[in-house]
Amino acid sequence: MAKYSEIQPQTKQAPPREGFTSTLGVIAATLGSAVGLGNIWKFPYMTGQNGGAAFLFIYIVCVTVVGLTIMISEFIIGRHAGAATVGAYKKLAPGSKWYLAGTSNILAAFLIMAFYTTVAGWVYAYAFQAMTGSLSFSRPEDYKLAFASFTGDPWLPLFWQWIALAVTGAVILAGVKNGIERITKTLLPVLFVLLLLCDVRALTLDGASAGLAFLFKPDFSKITGVTILLALGLSFFKLSVGMGTMTTYGSYIDKNQNLISTAAKVMFSDTLVSILAGIAIFPAVFAFGFQPDAGPSLLFLTIPMVFSSMPLGQLFLAMFFVLTAIAATGAMISLLEVPVSYLCEERKWPRWQATAASVLGIALLGSTATLSTSTLSNFTLFGKTMFDLFDFASSNILLPAGGIAIAIFVSRVLSTKVIFAEATNNGQLKNHRLVTAYYFSVRYLAPIAIAIILLNSLGLVKL
Ligand code: TRP
Repeated sequence: MAKYSEIQPQTKQAPPREGFTSTLGVIAATLGSAVGLGNIWKFPYMTGQNGGAAFLFIYIVCVTVVGLTIMISEFIIGRHAGAATVGAYKKLAPGSKWYLAGTSNILAAFLIMAFYTTVAGWVYAYAFQAMTGSLSFSRPEDYKLAFASFTGDPWLPLFWQWIALAVTGAVILAGVKNGIERITKTLLPVLFVLLLLCDVRALTLDGASAGLAFLFKPDFSKITGVTILLALGLSFFKLSVGMGTMTTYGSYIDKNQNLISTAAKVMFSDTLVSILAGIAIFPAVFAFGFQPDAGPSLLFLTIPMVFSSMPLGQLFLAMFFVLTAIAATGAMISLLEVPVSYLCEERKWPRWQATAASVLGIALLGSTATLSTSTLSNFTLFGKTMFDLFDFASSNILLPAGGIAIAIFVSRVLSTKVIFAEATNNGQLKNHRLVTAYYFSVRYLAPIAIAIILLNSLGLVKL
């Protein structure tokens, strides 16, 4: 019997599909997806809470071994099929139940968007307030009060969540080339420059070195099983893998692009952005005597307090929140593209209709996450608010489960011939050693490592 994967995808009658137009376009779009609130919000507070440099070291190992492997695998599935998630599984494994892996990707995209747009809305609001100068108080407690009264209001955060969704929807509506590629190509350099300016400011503060030591001096006594789990989970979230974003983007990558080196460049740059964000934050936090382990509130309480108390603080605060808003938007674009491409390609909906329906669905579901800090603050399901539930279910269950499915699909359903053909561009690239290392990882290392996190999240194994 022919292996599923040997049945070539039938792309002949299909109408020409939009895709990314250049190497730079591919990097910009995928990096735009990877760089997000994960770098500027999750990464710094998790590093702060879990032992600084020691956590950073473990994170780098996880992202290099597991995150990168899954990213390459998603690229292979998407590009080989020439179809977004769901469609890709239907083409590569026709008649099987594998398309359900794609369906669960779409569910994950909705859940992530539901809480991600809440935080993105807060960031948009803070960027706006910082630019208009209304985010400056004299007493530290006032920042706490301001954040509590903003998130405790039912309407204002919803308004900003919808603005964030509308901006994302507009980019998606413009298409893969004119929307996703063009916007990420324009905005990523802006983000990078703003981040570097914030770094220079932070590093020139008196007392900056304590923050640097915190970020770069490893203390391995802090490393436990749980730290490793957190780092592995973060590496998935960071690289946007485990739920079909990169499968979908992979389907827009043309046959001449080098998949392994693209993924490696994105992983390297994404990690660099996380570290640069850490450099912008920690020296300032230490210089002004704040605690580095403030948790999720680091971004909305500590940062405004710290930045406002330094020279030129208002300017840098505005820059910092604008760059965070840019980062969040690139990530939301990639998340929204998952249901939209599915509705367009599999259900044959016009793009505007697919975009409008997805935005509306996310706005409805997402409003329950946004209201978790106000009207619905006492409403819990499985002991969690809707915000925490969406975050937990997607990051701790759906992403790792999706990651395992992807690793199994590539290494057990696709033939080795297909994997090597995709990863070497039909033998044109001389990267056989790398491909062999990747193959070992996708077949053994990555699925085993992910299975352990998943079992732990489900409470079946205790680390
Ligand atoms: N990587 C993004 C961040 O760091 C978030 C993100 C975008 C994501 N697309 C994703 C996470 C897909 C998981 C899956 O903020």
